[in-house]
Amino acid sequence: MSKRYSVAVVGIGAVGTEMLKVLHQRQFPAKSIRVFARSARAEEIAGKTYQVEETTPEAFNGVDIAIFAGTEGAKGASQLYGWQAVAKGAIVIDNGDDFRMDPRVPLVVPECNAEALKQHQGFIANPNCSTIQMVVALAPLHRVARIRRIVVSSYQAVSGTGRSAIDELQNQVTAIEKGQEPKAQVYPHRIAFNLFPHIGRPSDEMPGYYTEEVKMRRETRKILGDPEIQVSATCVRVPVFNAHSETVNVQFEKKMSAAQAREVLKSAPGVVVIDDPAKAAYPTPLMASGTDPVYVGRIRDDVSLPNTIDLWCVSDNIRKGAALNAVQIAEKMIEMGLI
Ligand SMILES: NC(=O)c1ccc[n+]([C@@H]2O[C@H](COP(=O)([O-])OP(=O)(O)OC[C@H]3O[C@@H](n4cnc5c(N)ncnc54)[C@H](OP(=O)(O)O)[C@@H]3O)[C@@H](O)[C@H]2O)c1
Repeated sequence: MSKRYSVAVVGIGAVGTEMLKVLHQRQFPAKSIRVFARSARAEEIAGKTYQVEETTPEAFNGVDIAIFAGTEGAKGASQLYGWQAVAKGAIVIDNGDDFRMDPRVPLVVPECNAEALKQHQGFIANPNCSTIQMVVALAPLHRVARIRRIVVSSYQAVSGTGRSAIDELQNQVTAIEKGQEPKAQVYPHRIAFNLFPHIGRPSDEMPGYYTEEVKMRRETRKILGDPEIQVSATCVRVPVFNAHSETVNVQFEKKMSAAQAREVLKSAPGVVVIDDPAKAAYPTPLMASGTDPVYVGRIRDDVSLPNTIDLWCVSDNIRKGAALNAVQIAEKMIEMGLI
C-alpha cells in the first residue's frame, strides 16, 4: 500500500477552508487531517465538522506535512510556528509572504519550477496568487524565447484579502440596495461598484509601488530563475468576489509571435486557452471561479514592438493562487520521493 501522511492545515480562513476541500477532492494520501487556528472550536466545512485545535509548537508533533494558511507578519502562524514545525520533522508549505524570498526556501509553482524542490530544507513557499497565474502562463513561453520584460496590470478579486473582504463587498452591495450608506472597514475605499489601484502597503524597496506589485516582480524572477527579467506591475482591486484577471504585455529576447505563443500554450500544463474574440470567447472571473486551470485569451501581437505579445489570463486565486498550488507542491514532493 502506498504511504499515507499525517497532514495539518494551519488557518481556516478563505484559503484554509479551500485547502480542506482540495485535499478531499484530490484524494490526497492523508492518514489524518488536523486543523489548527488561533483558537480551538468546532467548524463545519463542506458538510464535515472539524475539531479545530489551538496552534502551539507541540501540536506539530507527529505531523508529516503542515500547510500554513494563517495571516502574515510577526503575529501570523508562519513566523510563530513555521520553522518550529520543521524542527519537529514536518514539511511546511507556506501560503504567506514571510519567507518567499528567503534563500533557504524554494518558491514553487509545480508546472514551472518543480526542480527547485530538490534543494528544500523542510520549508517551501507558495508564491503570491497574482504571481502564480502569471508564471503558469509565461514559463512555457520563457523556455522557448526568453522573456526580457513584463508589464502587467491585475484586476484582483476581494477573496484575495480573505473572508473579511468577501463579507465587506456583500455587505456594501446589500446596504446600497437598501439605500443605506455602505461602510468601508477592510479597504480604504468603498469596493462595491468601485475599484482602486492599491494592494498591499507602499513599498520602501521600490518607491511609488505597492507591495503586491513588488511581489510580482521579485517572485517572478525567483520562480523563473532569471534575475534580469524586468517586471513592472500595477495591481488593482476590483468588485469581483473571486478569481483574479491580468493583462500581460511580454517582450521576448528571441522570436515570438501571438500564433506561436498560442500553440505553445495549448499544450502547456495547467493552462486552458480560450481565445476567439469574434465569438466573444475569452476567460472571465465568473467562469474561472471554483476551477483549477489558468485560462489564457486575447493573445495578440503587440503592434508597437517586435517579439512582444499581449495576453489576458484569469484564474481562481483561492484555488490555483493558493490552496491548489500548495497541495500540488505536496503531491509533487511525494512523486519526486522527497517526502
Ligand atoms: N486569499 C488569497 O487569495 C490568498 C492567496 C495567496 C496567499 N494567501 C495567503 O494565505 C494566508 C491565508 O489567507 P486567508 O485569505 O485565508 O486569510 P484569512 O481569511 O484572514 O484567515 C486567516 C486564518 O489564519 C488563522 N491565524 C492567523 N494568525 C494565526 C496564528 N498566529 N496562529 C494560528 N492561526 C492563525 C486565523 O485563525 P482564527 O480563525 O482562529 O482567527 C484564520 O483562520 C495569508 O498569508 C495570505 O496572504 C492568500
